[in-house]
Amino acid sequence: MSRPSQARAPGKVILLGEHSVVYGQPALALPLDRGVTVRCEPAAALRLKSVPAAGAHAMQEATEQVAAQLGNPLVEITIDSDIPLSAGLGSSAAVAVALTRALAASAGRTLPDDELLRLAEGMEQTFHGRPSGIDHTTCALAAPLRFVRGPPHQVTRLSVKKLEWVVALSGPRQGTKEKVLGLRQAWEREPERIGAKFAAIGQIVEAGQAALLAGDERELGRLFDANQAILAELGLTTPAIDALLAQMRGLGAYGAKLTGAGGGGAVIALHPEPAKLVRALEQAGVRAFAARWEEP
Ligand code: MEV
Repeated sequence: MSRPSQARAPGKVILLGEHSVVYGQPALALPLDRGVTVRCEPAAALRLKSVPAAGAHAMQEATEQVAAQLGNPLVEITIDSDIPLSAGLGSSAAVAVALTRALAASAGRTLPDDELLRLAEGMEQTFHGRPSGIDHTTCALAAPLRFVRGPPHQVTRLSVKKLEWVVALSGPRQGTKEKVLGLRQAWEREPERIGAKFAAIGQIVEAGQAALLAGDERELGRLFDANQAILAELGLTTPAIDALLAQMRGLGAYGAKLTGAGGGGAVIALHPEPAKLVRALEQAGVRAFAARWEEP
């Protein structure tokens, strides 16, 4: 007998190191204070009632795969998200984590972290091909992380007391899978040149980790700019992203960059007064919000 259940998982931002993390470099990520809620109600068959993230087909396939590993609970699934979708903010990873938790609960189980991470990673692979794993790991552990791709992934929880940052949306973007694939083709053509850029991002991440732990937002902002410069060289920025980053820097940001796969979607900035930056962006017609992490 399947039980009713509900589970939630946060979205994520990558502070530094997206894309190079796919190639074994370290990256830093934080959970968002927004997320995905999944509700399951007992039903005659497994059914997705609403699907706000990822393609409906991939979603159905991934859900069936996970349900099969959890004793096939028969439930109708409703998914709600307050994360902007397909923007690089981890909506699909949050769906994977919350859905896995909810299906397990409907089957009468509470999953240990390692099993949750394994099942959610399988879902993410159905959505995105071969992701590094940083997205679902951050959404599942809901903590600031340093992540190095494995197997096995090296995951370090970082003791960050508090950080506030601004998220703004530059407009629509291509899927993560396409951006990751495009960069892989470039890397296969020119492994040394592109590999050197990934290594340079790795150095920025090391410096960023020290700045993050020291609470040095000015230095972290400078490193956002340095990371963004390399992401631009890799062809991951767009004129809309560049204009938005310039606008945020002009409004006093310590630094700003795209976050996630790029090619559109979300950007992040550090600013001495995040709420003030959000207001100024909104007045200029930009969708923006302040996000915050505080150690529990
Ligand atoms: C997407 O949020 C992050 C990327 O580095 C892809 C990945 O890590 O799988 C672009």
